[in-house]
Amino acid sequence: MMVSIAVVAGSTREGSYNRALAELAAASLEAQGAGVTRVDLGAFDLPLYSAATEATAFPPDAARLKALFVQQDGLLFVSPEYNGSLPPLLKNAIDWASRPTGDEGLVALTAYRGKAAAIMAASISPFGGLRGLMHLRQILSTVQMIVIPEQVVVPNAHAAFAEDGSLKDALPASLVEQTAARLIAVAKALSA
Ligand SMILES: Cc1cc2nc3c(=O)[nH]c(=O)nc-3n(C[C@H](O)[C@H](O)[C@H](O)COP(=O)(O)O)c2cc1C
Repeated sequence: MMVSIAVVAGSTREGSYNRALAELAAASLEAQGAGVTRVDLGAFDLPLYSAATEATAFPPDAARLKALFVQQDGLLFVSPEYNGSLPPLLKNAIDWASRPTGDEGLVALTAYRGKAAAIMAASISPFGGLRGLMHLRQILSTVQMIVIPEQVVVPNAHAAFAEDGSLKDALPASLVEQTAARLIAVAKALSA
């Protein structure tokens, strides 16, 4: 059985290190047999969540993003750290996709519940965005995902990537492969 994994980058910046890392992880997931959907949050028109917007005009792109997540066996988030946490771009997307649609109950969490998740970060700091990942792990657990223990941080990201987009250091490069492998294995087990 082929597992489907969506890879979500938490940055839309031109030249984003996290998008570069997301692409490496997506390629690794594919090489290890997963069906991968690359999610560019810039392609989704997501207003800042508000209850009034939700009640009167549920954004079509929020429904589209949620529907995409619902179809997956697992999700991989690759995100920058902003002031010790995750960027509002990503938190807002996670929040919209957590909302009930149709006749779902309030905490149905159909985009997330019981599915495998993995997290990675790249940062220009020597800490690699580790604090942001701690928040992201907690949030994904709150929406009932099974977040695998493996994670990847790429510190000093401005100097970490080679011309061809690969990681210069063997350690983070091998952790990308290992994390992808475990995500596939756990997604497979959970969706069996
Ligand atoms: C508002 C803001 C806050 C930031 N806070 C942190 C931080 O707390 N820790 C960190 O490692 N980098 C921080 N950065 C720097 C980001 O790591 C850097 O901009 C990185 O390139 C963003 O990821 P990207 O290349 O994928 O867009 C911050 C950047 C911004 C814009």
